[in-house]
Amino acid sequence: MATILAIETSCDETAAAIVKNRKIYSSVVASQIALHQQYGGVVPEVASRQHLEIINACISQAFTEAKLDWDAIDGIAATSAPGLVGALLVGVTAAKTLAILHQKPFLGIHHLEGHIYANYLSEPQLQPPFLCLLVSGGHTSSIYVKDGGEYEILGSTRDDAAGEAFDKVARLLNLGYPGGPIIDRLAQIGDSEAFPLPEGKISLPRGGYHPYDSSFSGLKTAVLRLVQKLDKQGQPLPVEDIAASFQKTVARSLTKRTIACALDYGIKIITVGGGVAANSGLRKHLQAAAAPHNIQVYFPPLKFCTDNAAMIGCVAADRLNRGYTSPLTLGVKSRLAVTEVGQLYQC
Ligand code: KG4
Ligand code: ZN
Repeated sequence: MATILAIETSCDETAAAIVKNRKIYSSVVASQIALHQQYGGVVPEVASRQHLEIINACISQAFTEAKLDWDAIDGIAATSAPGLVGALLVGVTAAKTLAILHQKPFLGIHHLEGHIYANYLSEPQLQPPFLCLLVSGGHTSSIYVKDGGEYEILGSTRDDAAGEAFDKVARLLNLGYPGGPIIDRLAQIGDSEAFPLPEGKISLPRGGYHPYDSSFSGLKTAVLRLVQKLDKQGQPLPVEDIAASFQKTVARSLTKRTIACALDYGIKIITVGGGVAANSGLRKHLQAAAAPHNIQVYFPPLKFCTDNAAMIGCVAADRLNRGYTSPLTLGVKSRLAVTEVGQLYQC
């Protein structure tokens, strides 16, 4: 039963947590959203510098909240891939330094594996196999989770990630950053049938469509055209109706593919991870579509959908329990497939 100090700095949240297997002792998340809002998106240099400024305070707070000291810690983990290289380096360097100083094992963790494990924090009884729909700002994949560390990608996006589509559509509606939560809020009061929008489909060479892959760039362009048309007509933009129509189209498209995948592979449990797992439309559509097939759907609580260090600690505890650690020579990587997590460890 490993107790882990975990650090997450892959993008715009500086986070530290202490977890024992699937139990959280503390979880500190310092969001940089306010800092990046003025630029309309994350500025990598600004993110790295801010991580550096507050990482030590986050780690101290994680210990204070957990009421634990270093003797209780069995291993120190940090997200090492994928993400912004400069941002990842801050967390990984802090973790390695503390590992050397306190003579504890170091573990480099895959960010997306963290999002998969976020479900265990609220559902400690959950066990693979299951299908994880991972929908974040940078990724959209249907991952067959066979065991911890054993993954197969069954579907993915061919262009924009789901979160990226929310952020881009919010930008073209002048709604601010990050777009997902704002669109979600407006969608609650809008009419989702107001504007029919196209659901992106991936054609197969021999006809028909790919059953599990998605595409969001066409949908984004359709929203752009709609906005241009309404602007030209001199009408005030019905942003709530556009937000609701867009959100319903994304939710329907992800739901259709995820359910088809689960049925084809005979999978009875679906988990959802990543920032877009917080979306109310997706939650509603997926639950409703899964129920008639007796498929159980798990969504992490909202605070564990977006980036946090508790989910990273949960992966690290599982790895350490199985006898894996990472070498201190492990570097950071901006890209690494979740099917390649084996590269991060030694036995
Ligand atoms: O997982 P995450 O915190 O960071 C990445 O690893 O990318 O996800 C951030 C993404 C952003 O694109 C944000 O707009 C989206 O998740 N997001 C949402 C919601 N909350 C966050 N998208 C739709 N609805 C939400 N409620
Ligand atoms: Zn993430």
